[in-house]
Order: sequence, then C-alpha cells, then structure tokens
Amino acid sequence: MANTILIGMQWGDEGKGKIIDVLTARADLVVRSQGGNNAGHTVIHRGVKYILHLIPSGILRRGKVCVIGNGVVVDPLALVAEIESLRKLGIKVDKNLLISDCAHLVLPYHRILDEQRELRRGRIGTTKRGIGPAYGDKAGRTGLRMSDLIQPIVFSKKLQAKVIENNRILQALGAKPISFREVNETYLAAAKKLRPFVANTVVYLHRAMERGKQILFEGAQGTFLDIDHGTYPYVTSSNTTAGGACTGTGVPPHRMDRVVGVMKAYSTRVGEGALPTEDDQLAQRLHNLGREFGATTGRKRRCGWFDAVATRYSRMINGIDEIAITNLDGLDRVDPIRVCVAYRLNEKRLDVPPCDASQLANCEPVYEEVRGWNASTHASRKFSQLPSAARKYLRYISELTGAKLSMVSVGPARGETITL
Ligand code: IMP
Repeated sequence: MANTILIGMQWGDEGKGKIIDVLTARADLVVRSQGGNNAGHTVIHRGVKYILHLIPSGILRRGKVCVIGNGVVVDPLALVAEIESLRKLGIKVDKNLLISDCAHLVLPYHRILDEQRELRRGRIGTTKRGIGPAYGDKAGRTGLRMSDLIQPIVFSKKLQAKVIENNRILQALGAKPISFREVNETYLAAAKKLRPFVANTVVYLHRAMERGKQILFEGAQGTFLDIDHGTYPYVTSSNTTAGGACTGTGVPPHRMDRVVGVMKAYSTRVGEGALPTEDDQLAQRLHNLGREFGATTGRKRRCGWFDAVATRYSRMINGIDEIAITNLDGLDRVDPIRVCVAYRLNEKRLDVPPCDASQLANCEPVYEEVRGWNASTHASRKFSQLPSAARKYLRYISELTGAKLSMVSVGPARGETITL
C-alpha cells in the first residue's frame, strides 16, 4: 500500500473507523493529523466494539505503529483513560504509540469555555470537548504543548498564567473558576504516564519512509466540518481535508500517493448548520433501526439523502482517487431512494455549495429518484452478489461524485466489506 490519506467526504461519521481498520492491514504506520477526542472511530472486531477517540485505530492490529501527529489537540486525561481502557481489553499500548511533542493540549478551561459558548445563541452544537478553544489558543500562540507537559517546571509556570487569564474570562461568563493547584497536580500525574510516548514524530515518520514503510493518514471528522472549506461557522476547528494530513504530520505533499474518500450511501450530520438534503422520515427510519447515534456524544444524527453536490466538491478539494461507500445496508428497505444532483437557490441551479452559511441554508435540493432494492445486502461479499438495483445505485453515486468506487461496506464488522 502506498502512503494513503483517508478522508471523510461529508459531515463526519462516514464510517471511517471501519475503512481505516480494513486499510490498516496493508499499512505499517497509522497516523492522526488533526482533531482531538471529538472524534469517535468505531471498529468492531471479533464481536467486540472499540470506540477510539484519540488513538489511531491501527492500535487494534499487531505490529502497527500509531502516531498522534503535531496537528492533533490532545486532552491528556482523555488519552490516559483511552490507553488504560485499551489495555484492560488486552490491547498492547506500548512502543506502538507515539505522540508528537508539538501537539497542543486541551486543558480544563478549554472544555469549560466550549460548554459556556454552547449555552449561548449562535451555538455550533460542538462535542464540548474543548476543541475550538484549544485550537484558538494554538492560533493565538498562547497554547501549551506536549513538550511543555513533560517538563514539570515549564508546564506549571505556563499553566498558572493561563489559569489566571482564563479564570477572569470564566468569571465574566458566570462560570466557576478553576483551581491551578488541582489542575497542575492532575495533569502532571497524567504527564508521567504519557512521557514515554512523546517524541519528535516528524523525524520518526521521515525515517520510517526512508525504510520503505507505508503510512495511512487517518482523517477525523469530514470535509464539510473543515475550518476553511466546511459550512463555516458550523465546523470544527481544524483542517479535516487532505492538506491537513501534511501540515498535521510534517509529511510533505509529494510523499502522499493516494487519497481515499469515505462517504455514506446517504448523508448525516450532528450539531447545527445546514444539511441541505435533511429528511425527517429517513432519519426516523434509520433511528428506529438503531442506527445513526453519535459515537462520541450519543446524540441522534440528523439524516438526509445522498448529496452529490457536496461529494463532488469534496472530491475536488481532497483530490479523491478512490471512494469507499459505507452504510449501504441502511437503505436496504428504502424505496424509492432520492439523490440530490444540484441545488436551487433563488431560481438558479447550483452545482457547487455556496460558501455563505445562510445561502446554503436556503438551498433546495434538486432530486432524482432511483429504485430501491428491498433486500438485505448484509451477506454480500462480492459486488456481483449485491442486488442489481444496489449495484446501479452505487455506480450512480460514484459517477456523480467523479471518482472510482473501490470499497463498499454492508455492515459494521471488518468482514462485512466488499473490495472491488
Ligand atoms: P467540535 O469539533 O467539538 O468543536 O464540534 C464542531 C462541529 O463538528 C459540531 O457540529 C460537531 O458535532 C462536529 N463534530 C466534531 N467531531 C465530529 C466527529 O467526529 N463526527 C461528526 N461530527 C463531529
């Protein structure tokens, strides 16, 4: 396998965890380049369900090295908890995990600020994990990093200044101030546990590439949650698109060989912001099947029809070479199925999504209807075993998106995958 970037092509929750797990079989290293524990990548292996938030899913496979790159924001307590829960399940977390010394920290005041902002008008519907405020500090050049955390004196000094500053803000917002002493103690205890994993991951990745190792870059969230290209302001605070894999790891663009995009056979979104093809009946149907509940927050996902305007744009931004389509089985009993081929805004037909959030919210989907297959696709392991209407649907949405179809997922388990 060449160096591969894996990207969510919609609004996150495309089922990346499962596809990453399948692709990991052919990679030597699996790297996260952005986001934090707002992500929730679900992998089902031998009947056990693992939800990974910070650690790349490659940790579940023997012999793979996992790297948390410089572009990730790390909540040290969440990371320690994740390491410990994996160990309890018998998963080795040792020399197979590295954390960039340049990765920024998510600290308690980030989480509280995130929660406070979410209480106000204009809320984004965040995961309340402190992601936005942590990236805000990074861009504002006042953030603390892993390299600070593992130097107790440096960490305490910087933390104290930040706690004083943030307590003023918290008090102005009517929130309880935090105790420097408590935070300092708790985080220094976490630092002891994390220190063995901290390294210059840029150098590590380059050395690995010199030795011919192959890297899988595990994207978190999705294209339309990208801070630049997403449905701003209803986005996350990092570059979820392909470019983020370079800046978030220090691996240059010419070392990237292929980009695999993951998209659901329909659309979903959690949090606020436009979802042009949203359909409450489809959502009800999927929720009744026990599907489409968030892996990180448990929130019900909003659901809509497949949106080719969005996925076409996503293919363009990310340079998608191949597509993996997931959750095909979610449409097994839906007939007819609608596909959005364009938007209409003020009597004009649009082929790309507008940048402006209120314009996007006013876009009406132009639909085409296709026949459903009214049969289970769960047991299909070859493309030819799928019902003919399902094959037609997959070909149609891949063509509309403009990239080659390479994988189809018909269930959550590793084996429930069709490779073309
Ligand atoms: P934040 O990343 O917690 O700041 O949330 C910003 C927006 O991104 C919200 O709409 C969240 O629901 C969404 N979001 C963040 N992480 C994920 C994810 O892993 N999957 C889907 N949506 C996400």
